[in-house]
Amino acid sequence: GFMRELKGIDVMELELKHKLGIKKVIIVPGDSDESLMVKGELGKACAVCMKKLLSGKNIIAVTGGSTMAAVAERLSPELTQKDLLFVPARGGVGEDVQNQANTICSIMSRNTRSKHRVFYVPDQVSTDIYESLIKEPDIHEVLKLIKSASMVLHGIGDAITMAERRKSNPEILNMLESSKAVGEAFGYYFNEQGEIVHKVLTIGLQLENLVGIPNVIAVAGGSSKAKAIKAYLKQAPASTILITDEGAARSLLKG
Ligand code: F6P
Repeated sequence: GFMRELKGIDVMELELKHKLGIKKVIIVPGDSDESLMVKGELGKACAVCMKKLLSGKNIIAVTGGSTMAAVAERLSPELTQKDLLFVPARGGVGEDVQNQANTICSIMSRNTRSKHRVFYVPDQVSTDIYESLIKEPDIHEVLKLIKSASMVLHGIGDAITMAERRKSNPEILNMLESSKAVGEAFGYYFNEQGEIVHKVLTIGLQLENLVGIPNVIAVAGGSSKAKAIKAYLKQAPASTILITDEGAARSLLKG
């Protein structure tokens, strides 16, 4: 029955938290690979979790992707009493507009009646451009905001899916395949052991900045993302909260 199902999920949440070695796991029923509605449920669970964690003044750094877009849809003016500022965690111009962190932050601020900053920086830059861009006063200011964030909301993706979505060149794709990359987060690609096998040079939050941030919420579901989630969480700070679905959770517990 229904209660049994609920209990099943409670037990899975605890088992998975221990297995992954992170602060908390929240599981929603279903598999987002099979139903779009489940992605909406991930968004809702994230909104509930944020409400519990936020107090006072908050800078919230957000990455791109369809899961983060689903989170944005579920945020509501309930969060308005808190003083919130949404900022893109990294440059992301290059992805489809609805998946870009700029778009997502603007929807988040609209839905919570709070503020946001835009960060118009390409998702991949050359070293030269990187060096000159970080000297721009506007960019410098946003970077300071990102580094002082009290919360980070981010997605996790399958490595090859993400490389293709970013229209990475064939050499990069080959390299990711030969180095057996399985997961991606924040522009970093990981193999099953959680080792970084490739990194996209972009401006904004770097993996090492996560350690100092009090609340880090990863939102990723679908059984097809199980390997990606496991790989990334080997690198993630232990303070990470994972919001996932039953589809991903069941394969994670099996593996
Ligand atoms: O490109 C931004 C990003 O957050 C990636 O780091 C991540 O792999 C991906 O989006 C997740 O996208 P989706 O939620 O659409 O699977």
